[in-house]
Formats: sequence, structure tokens, C-alpha cells
Amino acid sequence: MLLLLILTLLSLTRSRPESGVEIVNLSTQLLDQSGFKQLPFRLKPYNIGVYYTKLDDRLRQTLLDVRNRTQVTVLSKIDSLLEHNAKIGRLQQPVAEDYSFPCNLSKGRSPEPPSHITRLRPGDIDIVAALGDSTHAGTGILALGWRDLMTEYRGFSYGGGGIESWRTVLTVPNILKLYNPNLYGYAVAHCLAVDPNSRFNVAEPALYLLDLPFQAHVLIDRLRKDPKVDMAKHWKMINIHVGPNDVCTELCHRDDLEAFLRTVKSVMYETFRVLRDNVPRLLINFVIQPEIHDMLNTIHKMPQDCKGKTIFFCHCHPKYDKSHFYNAAERFVRMQKEIASMPEFQRDDFAIVNHGILRNISDFWSKNGVLDHTFMANDCIHFSQKGQAVLTKLLWNSMFAPTDFRFTEAWSHPFEHFLCPNAENLFLRTKGDQY
Ligand SMILES: *[C@@H]1O[C@H](CO)[C@@H](O)[C@H](O)[C@H]1NC(C)=O
Ligand SMILES: *[C@@H]1O[C@H](CO)[C@@H](O)[C@H](O)[C@H]1NC(C)=O
Ligand SMILES: *[C@@H]1O[C@H](CO)[C@@H](O)[C@H](O)[C@H]1NC(C)=O
Ligand SMILES: *[C@@H]1O[C@H](CO)[C@@H](O)[C@H](O)[C@H]1NC(C)=O
Repeated sequence: MLLLLILTLLSLTRSRPESGVEIVNLSTQLLDQSGFKQLPFRLKPYNIGVYYTKLDDRLRQTLLDVRNRTQVTVLSKIDSLLEHNAKIGRLQQPVAEDYSFPCNLSKGRSPEPPSHITRLRPGDIDIVAALGDSTHAGTGILALGWRDLMTEYRGFSYGGGGIESWRTVLTVPNILKLYNPNLYGYAVAHCLAVDPNSRFNVAEPALYLLDLPFQAHVLIDRLRKDPKVDMAKHWKMINIHVGPNDVCTELCHRDDLEAFLRTVKSVMYETFRVLRDNVPRLLINFVIQPEIHDMLNTIHKMPQDCKGKTIFFCHCHPKYDKSHFYNAAERFVRMQKEIASMPEFQRDDFAIVNHGILRNISDFWSKNGVLDHTFMANDCIHFSQKGQAVLTKLLWNSMFAPTDFRFTEAWSHPFEHFLCPNAENLFLRTKGDQY
């Protein structure tokens, strides 16, 4: 079982498209089967230090079945998982029925769909989607041990989950739903991305930024094939959370860091260009990952029971005492901000908004120099449901105004310092954070 899981992980992390032209074809062909591309396995470094697997050819379906079976088995016990997580403080506090949502919902949707992106209100979003890695796949959110480590609680993910309601599961789609009950695209179950219930939350665990163009094509295909989507008329929101895997397990294996950064640059650029040119009426929320100093701080402040696991989930971190790796990691994040802010990604019906909601997270989520474990899943890698709920609030607030870092105490509470569209500002931000 463990071996199969490791193989699954291998197949997940080493599946990557090679070139732009091929992607379109392959994504179409593979879509019904999986969001991943098959590549032959050679147990030697592929030219840029990446391993691929031949297992993909013969065992893809088997691995998928194993993942799915694990998923189904674990989820059959979800009540006891929820109960246990509630007991140890990793779930948000449910909001009672006699409290109403903190924002006044009237005027939250335009009488007619606006034609300009700067006039977009939260209720104007008809389609919501999520790209990225395990955070949006919901990996590990309720997991308690090794057996359920890879289970995906996709319906809880802050940018692409939408099961239950904001009262028990605070996610961006669950908020948007209040403004537009016809909102569509969020995951309606805890399932794998291949499952139709994932809708347009196509995030996959262990995804690298380098995999993003492929994922964008998968999403575009799904949008086009779904009869519920009116490509021309509907306003769409895509929430993107990706990057930690590159810094934790990829960057430090590159001999040629300049080449790596060049590749990242072109891949980011390609992803945004493809989305802009194929998805009309689109607002992208791009979540900026913590800078390298903050990521190292976060690792430094891990609770004692997590320290031993650091080497598994971020084996690059000891390498960052070498300045060339450190500087490359700094540039990796800076470059993403710069590309997302390029003027060509601001148009009448398209915008990318950078969100610096994870800045200084190691300060805000720690007490006495130790990170509060209730924001983290048991595996010490992923966010807990409470962590996801707080990220939801941060991203929601950030859609209206840059994060106000004075509210440090409110930082860690899902419903404190909760911003709302109001008479002075009804519209979603279309220009992101610059820092
Ligand atoms: C691309 O798709 C077309 C039509 O679906 C097919 O005829 C062609 O063989 C495909 N090419 C590759 C490289 O898969
Ligand atoms: C919401 O705002 C509208 C005006 O914009 C007002 O008429 C209504 O009373 C408000 N509702 C609540 C519950 O405050
Ligand atoms: C996963 O398993 C369930 C239950 O056996 C099944 O209904 C579902 O279709 C499977 N999903 C995939 C993607 O194989
Ligand atoms: C983040 O932390 C650094 C040093 O720990 C501090 O200088 C900076 O002001 C903080 N930034 C925010 C936005 O709080």
C-alpha cells in the first residue's frame, strides 16, 4: 500500500507537458481519463533533472483506481474525521443560523452583466475555477495518518471548494454563492480532479509551476465542453495557488538556475496568455507565495512534532544557506509578481490580480515563535480546514483592498475584520498588490 502511494506520488510529480503545440491535442485526448500527461519513465535524470516514469503507460489506470479507492474508503468515515478535527481545533467554528452573513448582499450583483471588468461585483461572477497544487486539491485537510495522507478534501479548498455553506465551510465560492445562487464551477464533493464533481477545480497535488500551462489547457477544455458555460457572456473567476513545490523540491536540483528562471518566466507568461486568449470575461486571482525568508521562517517555527517531517516535504530548505539558491528563490517569487502585473494582462474584459495574502504568515500564525498547529493539517504540510477558512477571508478581503497588516489579531480569525462591498466600493479589485 505504502509502495503504491509512493508510486502514485511519483507519477503525480513527474507528469509534465513538453511543448505548447502538443499540449492542446494531448489535453483533449487525456482529459476524460485524467488531468495528467503520460511520459515514459527512465530511471535517470531527464535532461533538466526531472525523472519520468514508464509506469504511466501501463499503471496509470491502476494508480488512479488506488487513489480513488483510498479516497472512497477514507471518506466513508468522514464523520469521525470531522469530529476528531473539531476536537483538536482544526475546523472553523460553525456559525449559528440566527447570525446572518457579515455583508449586506443587496447590490452585490449588477442588474445587467457589466461589459467592463472594473465594474464587476462579486455576484456578477457566474463561473468559478481553481488551478494549482494540493492546497486547492484539498489534500490532507482532515487527514490523520499515513493511510489517508493523499485524500483530497477538494470541497473544502478556499479558492475552488463549495460543499455545504459559509457557516461550516468558509470558501470563496461559498461566499460568491450568496451573491449569485447560480454560481457554477466549484467542487461539489471531496474527489479527485478526474471526477466530474470536481467541476472546474482541476488542481492536482504536487503540481509545479512548470505544469501550469497544461493545467490551464485542461481547464479550458472543460469550460468549452460544459453546456452550463456560456463562454462569451459569463464572467469567470480563476483562483490560482501554486509555487511551494518548486521552491521546496525542484529549484535546488537545478544546475543552471538562470535556465530554470527563464523557463519559469516563459511558462507563467504562456499560461496567462493562453487563459487571456481563450477565456473571455476573466478575472484571475493569483496568490503570491511567501518570499523565501518567510518560507524559511515558517519551517524554523514548525511545532516540535513537525520538525522531523520537514526534510520530506521541503528537502531543498537546507540548501538555501547557499546564496545562489537563495537569490534564485527570491527572484522566482519576484518574477511571478512582475509577469502577473504586465500591462498586457490588463484589458477591458481580463485582469490578473496579485494577492500578497501570505506575506509574513510565519509571524501572524505563530505564538511565542511556534506556528499554531490548528492552522495546519496533521501532516504538517497542508492547511487544516480552519487554515483554509482563514485564507478564504484573506483572499475575499484582498479582492476589495490590499491586505491591512495592522489587523494582526484578526488575521487568524475567519470572521474578524471581514470586508464587504459597500456604497463607496461595490467592485472587485482589478489591480493587484505591488510590493
Ligand atoms: C491531434 O489531433 C488530431 C485530431 O484530433 C489527430 O488527427 C492527430 O493525430 C493528433 N496529433 C497528435 C500528435 O496526437
Ligand atoms: C442593505 O442595504 C440596502 C441599501 O443598499 C438597505 O435598504 C437594506 O436595509 C440593507 N439590509 C440590511 C439587512 O442591512
Ligand atoms: C471512484 O470510485 C467511485 C465508487 O466506486 C466511483 O463511483 C467513481 O466513478 C470512481 N471515480 C473515478 C474517477 O474512477
Ligand atoms: C514582515 O516582517 C518583516 C520582518 O519580520 C517586517 O519588516 C515587515 O514590515 C513585515 N511586513 C508586514 C507586511 O507586516
